[in-house]
Amino acid sequence: MQRTLIILKPDAVQRQLMGQIITRFEQRGLQMIACKFMRITPDLAAKHYAEHVEKPFYPGLVKYMTSDPVLVMVWQGDDVIAAARKMMGATFANNAEPGTIRGDLGSAPNTYNLIHGSDSAESAAREIKLFFGEDEICDYDMATADWIRPK
Ligand code: RTP
Ligand code: MG
Repeated sequence: MQRTLIILKPDAVQRQLMGQIITRFEQRGLQMIACKFMRITPDLAAKHYAEHVEKPFYPGLVKYMTSDPVLVMVWQGDDVIAAARKMMGATFANNAEPGTIRGDLGSAPNTYNLIHGSDSAESAAREIKLFFGEDEICDYDMATADWIRPK
């Protein structure tokens, strides 16, 4: 079973889209195993988005991610990293396919985009450690598991 870090960004919180987005993950049969509503500090944003530090959009990205609270979660499931990225759609609403979170709920091009999802197993492991201690992750057997994941 794979794990991924999902962040519902400040625009998802402010636009009251958290429930709708979480519902999509639940309906897909994925399992939430950790969740935290918090403000991201500039230091944590810098660590999380370290790969983008040289990009022209970086200062705006840190400002966006630290502007208001976010909902940070760990989701678990088969191929959850790719599944979440497909559900999210392309980075911005103008390119994201209808049916995806960003394609259906996204707003402006090249600015806000509602959601972050880890892009590889290495990123997921690194990002989960940035936001959660092992004792904050609640792994458990899902009652519906046999119907989601046949043995
Ligand atoms: P994320 O990391 O947030 O899941 O998004 P992503 O993989 O789809 O996109 P990535 O290339 O990793 O970019 C990280 C975040 O930076 C902002 N961004 N702005 N103005 C721009 O050209 C631009 N490009 C990227 C977005 O908030 C994007 O999610
Ligand atoms: Mg990314």
